Amino acid sequence: MLKGRKGIDIKNVVFSIYCGFALFAIALLNSCAMTEEMRRIQAVEAEKARKAEGQSSNLSGEQIFIRTCNTCHVGGRKGMGPALTEVNEHFPTDERLKAFIRQGVGMMPPQPPEVLNDRELNSLVIYLRELGPRVKEELADEERKAAERAKKRAEEAEAKKKARKARRR
Ligand code: HEC
Repeated sequence: MLKGRKGIDIKNVVFSIYCGFALFAIALLNSCAMTEEMRRIQAVEAEKARKAEGQSSNLSGEQIFIRTCNTCHVGGRKGMGPALTEVNEHFPTDERLKAFIRQGVGMMPPQPPEVLNDRELNSLVIYLRELGPRVKEELADEERKAAERAKKRAEEAEAKKKARKARRR
C-alpha cells in the first residue's frame, strides 16, 4: 500500500480529488445548461412583450382624445357633440364615465376594447377629468373678455354721440 507520511492513503486522496473535480464539472455544466435555458426563456418573454407592445398602442389620454373624440368635441368644446365642460358633474364616478365611452350613444360611436384598451380608457378618463374644468374656465374667461369689449364699444359709441351732440349745439 502506498502510504503518505502521516499514514494518509494517497489513493484515497487522489480519488477524493477526482470525485470533487467530477462533481464540480457536473455542477458547472449543469449551471451552464441552466443559464442557457434561462436565456432562452427570457428571449421568448422579451419577444412576447415586444409583440404585445406592438399590438397595443397605449397612447396617452390626450393622444386618444385627438384621435377619437376631437372631431366632435373640438378641444373639449361644442362641435357636433356637446362641450365636455360638465363631465365631472354628469359622470361622478370613473365607472359611469368609462361605461358611457365604451357604449357610446346616438351619433357617438362605441369604443370596444379592441379599439381602446383598458389602460388607454383609463388615461382618457384622467385626461377628460382635467379637460372639463379647464375648458369651462377658458370659456368663462373668453365670455368675460367679450363682455368687456362690448362694454368698451358701447362706452365709445356713447362718447361719440355726446361729442356729436355738443358740436351741433
Ligand atoms: C361622431 C361624433 C362624436 C364622437 C367621435 C365622440 N362623441 Fe361624444 N358625444 C357626441 C354627441 C352627439 C353627444 C351627445 C349625445 C347625447 O346626449 O345624445 C356626445 C356626448 C358625450 C359626452 C356626454 C357629455 C355630457 O356632459 O353629458 C361625453 C362625456 C362624450 N361625448 C365624450 C366623448 C369621448 C371621450 C369621445 C372619444 C372617445 C367622444 N365623445 C367621441 C358625439 C361624438
